[in-house]
Amino acid sequence: MYINTHVILLPLVLVSVFLSAIHVSSKQDEGLVLSCGLADGVANDTDGRKWESDAKYLVEGSNSITSRASYQDPSLQAEVPYMTARIFKTEATYKFPAKTDMRYWLRLHFYPSVYGEQNPSDAYFSVTANEITLLSNFSAYVTCQALSQAYIAREYSLAPLNSDSLTLTFKPSDKHSGAFAFVNGIELIPIPELFNGSAVLVGSDQPVEAKSSNLETMFRLNVGGQYISANQDSGLSRTWYDDTPYIYGAATGITLDTKNVKIDYKTIPEYMAPPTVYSTSRSMGVENNVNQNFNLTWIFQVDPKFMYLVRLHFCDFRSEKVNQVVFSILLNNQTAEATADVIAWSGGKGVAVYKDYVVFVKDGPGDETIWLDLCPEEEAKPEFLDVLLNGVEVFKINDEAKNLAGPNPQPSAMLSKAVQEQPKDFVLPESPSKTKVIGTAAGGAAGFAIVAALCIVVYERKKRVSGTESHTSSWLPLYGNSQTACSKSTISGKSTASSHVSAMAQGLSRHFSIAEIKHATKNFDESNVIGVGGFGKVYKGVIDGGTKVAIKRSNPSSEQGVNEFQTEIEMLSKLRHKHLVSLIGFCEEGEEMCLVYDYMAKGTLREHLYKGNKTQLSWKQRLEICIGAARGLHYLHTGAKYTIIHRDVKTTNILLDENWVAKVSDFGLSKTGPNMNQGHVSTVVKGSFGYLDPEYFRRQQLTEKSDVYSFGVVLFEALCARPALNPSLPKEQVSLADWALQCKRKGTLEDIIDPLLKGKANLESIKKFADAAEKCLSDHGLDRPSMNDLLWNLEFALNLQENTEGSSHSSHREESEFEEVSLKQPRKGNAFKQTEPW
Ligand SMILES: *[C@@H]1O[C@H](CO)[C@@H](O)[C@H](O)[C@H]1NC(C)=O
Ligand SMILES: *[C@@H]1O[C@H](CO)[C@@H](O)[C@H](O)[C@H]1NC(C)=O
Ligand SMILES: *[C@@H]1O[C@H](CO)[C@@H](O)[C@H](O)[C@H]1NC(C)=O
Ligand SMILES: *[C@@H]1O[C@H](CO)[C@@H](O)[C@H](O)[C@H]1NC(C)=O
Ligand SMILES: *[C@@H]1O[C@H](CO)[C@@H](O)[C@H](O)[C@H]1NC(C)=O
Repeated sequence: MYINTHVILLPLVLVSVFLSAIHVSSKQDEGLVLSCGLADGVANDTDGRKWESDAKYLVEGSNSITSRASYQDPSLQAEVPYMTARIFKTEATYKFPAKTDMRYWLRLHFYPSVYGEQNPSDAYFSVTANEITLLSNFSAYVTCQALSQAYIAREYSLAPLNSDSLTLTFKPSDKHSGAFAFVNGIELIPIPELFNGSAVLVGSDQPVEAKSSNLETMFRLNVGGQYISANQDSGLSRTWYDDTPYIYGAATGITLDTKNVKIDYKTIPEYMAPPTVYSTSRSMGVENNVNQNFNLTWIFQVDPKFMYLVRLHFCDFRSEKVNQVVFSILLNNQTAEATADVIAWSGGKGVAVYKDYVVFVKDGPGDETIWLDLCPEEEAKPEFLDVLLNGVEVFKINDEAKNLAGPNPQPSAMLSKAVQEQPKDFVLPESPSKTKVIGTAAGGAAGFAIVAALCIVVYERKKRVSGTESHTSSWLPLYGNSQTACSKSTISGKSTASSHVSAMAQGLSRHFSIAEIKHATKNFDESNVIGVGGFGKVYKGVIDGGTKVAIKRSNPSSEQGVNEFQTEIEMLSKLRHKHLVSLIGFCEEGEEMCLVYDYMAKGTLREHLYKGNKTQLSWKQRLEICIGAARGLHYLHTGAKYTIIHRDVKTTNILLDENWVAKVSDFGLSKTGPNMNQGHVSTVVKGSFGYLDPEYFRRQQLTEKSDVYSFGVVLFEALCARPALNPSLPKEQVSLADWALQCKRKGTLEDIIDPLLKGKANLESIKKFADAAEKCLSDHGLDRPSMNDLLWNLEFALNLQENTEGSSHSSHREESEFEEVSLKQPRKGNAFKQTEPW
């Protein structure tokens, strides 16, 4: 078997007194945070972290050049550390002072941009830390392409070095002519020993000792919760991501967010995971007879031939006693834990615990995954058939040759196809299109930065401009368990970064005082938080004695926040429509900036579409919601003063109010059409994986037909009740757009339609709907219908359905719904004092 030779059995010691003096909160020992190629002095990033120059740690004789990236990708929130790089054409070494007995984080940051003469696709190199191989034949360019990201950070956890220094060596590959190495940022930070306990290798009784191992962080997920940035972590500057992209199939269970509770860290140190990880969780719900028939499963793509430490975090807030919830934990179909009972482990409600397991991932076809299954344990006769999970971390353990490096990930099928189809003059010197395509569409083999798996980078070759969605936060309020994937804006024209909202926008929106906002949110009470993003927290609130609103409060320290705040108000204050989420007003007082929106009681469309989710929507409801959303988009395209392209149409951006009226959200960063005066809104390219118009890749030209394409995917999602991307399905089925088209053409669409619709929905209606959806997915924008034509078809489909149901009202066409506010007649604040939804 593949066990390290130095396996020692250690008792599982969980003592929390450890180290509080050594690191965690002590500011003076933050380790080294280096921005490579920085001339000198100190530079701040957006979080206020200080990065210093790397120059003095270079070993004498190491040749390097420093260079500036030719272009700042919009997903880079700050110049530091990514806009400067150190480039090595020959082997070069850094030497860092270190403590002999400490574990360290070593984080390497790479931004594969053009640096002077150096093309990022030529960078192939290895990196070693003392004698540990971290990367070999590494291409940051190929990796970022495959993961659809502009930049990448790799996090390693090095076992105590037994030496007072760490040498970090970069070596260009000798297999590629002209290869060079580069790095943008290096962090070397002492941390407490996080890998103390022993973990058993699943499927054997062999204990594996991780304490002397070097590990690479593969995944770190806040299950059932949201993105947690490095400075929100419990002192260890880790980043935690949303788990939804990793859930297998449609059975996502339910998420629980236990607000206003104190996590009890009596059995583990507080730094193990922040309270937000333990206060949110995913479980199956409480219907015993349903839970017998499904397991909650997560799937992780990993490199084969390595052992992985899987750390599961638990904290039960619902159970009081032992044997209320008992479940089994399976890793790659092998029992890791036969009877997991969180209360038995932790000793009580609200007490945090974690458990470590080790799996070996073999190298066979289809083996490069870790399946994590949680399955209710009926035989233990628990009170409830349910499972629970709060957090997951997956770490790769170095092999016997002290190696952690895996192959570069393969680009996704969809991306390669798009690159392949590009006209000649857009093709890059070493286009990954030549690479054999095996990866799944979302994810990628070594995706540490994860949420970006949902998003896509579009490289605009000609102008050397590229854009990406970053994993910061959604711009408009986040609802329920919606994801935190979205983008940041840049304002190009206005240099008045800190200026105030324009007089025009002020006139159009209601101005709230901070006192009003505080009153509405009970002084920003944590129990009112309905979402958290890079901009800040989103609170539920009540104004005017009864109107529910969503209030987005900016983080006063972020400069980005000021810009977005302005863009949002400028843009949204001009748009009023029944099927768009409305900005009601804003508050700007001193440091405080808040945006006030309509509250959407029923959350996102996505939440209601898939099995295991809130409600089952009838066919008629789905039609009405699609029609509503189509109207919202139609208004953006034609009804407003300028053509506005949404750019990120997807089921999580279609929100539902208490009457199931669909409203399009997150259009604050939409791009306005050609007649908008330039320099007003950014030209950030955005879009979500699975929804992105293929023509957009080929031509880099954004038209409103790109929205039509994305909306076509939404229509199939509503019809088939499955996500736009499901990486766990066989390759040809991963992308709903591709799969639905294929089935439609083969005449087998019936097989993939939501079974719940069978026998209930009128077949003619479905056919009309599917025909319309198919047209939306036409390869060429010109062949796609306009939103207006689409609306006509959807309404026809609704008519057909209503006729079967014997409903009398046939025409749903709303005539005078366009409510663009005339810019000359500013709305007065009190025009918003209404309790009815728009
Ligand atoms: C790890 O082990 C050390 C020494 O054995 C102990 O002092 C420390 O508390 C342990 N840390 C954790 C997280 O269990
Ligand atoms: C970095 O931030 C500190 C305060 O946190 C400030 O004093 C300093 O001027 C900033 N440096 C730069 C280069 O912006
Ligand atoms: C759930 O997991 C158990 C244990 O592997 C398995 O026997 C069962 O078939 C699974 N159920 C489903 C619905 O996948
Ligand atoms: C686990 O079982 C599922 C179905 O039961 C199968 O599809 C999957 O390939 C198995 N995984 C491994 C690693 O054996
Ligand atoms: C290096 O990586 C590239 C890109 O993944 C791959 O095509 C090539 O075969 C690798 N070379 C070696 C020597 O492994």
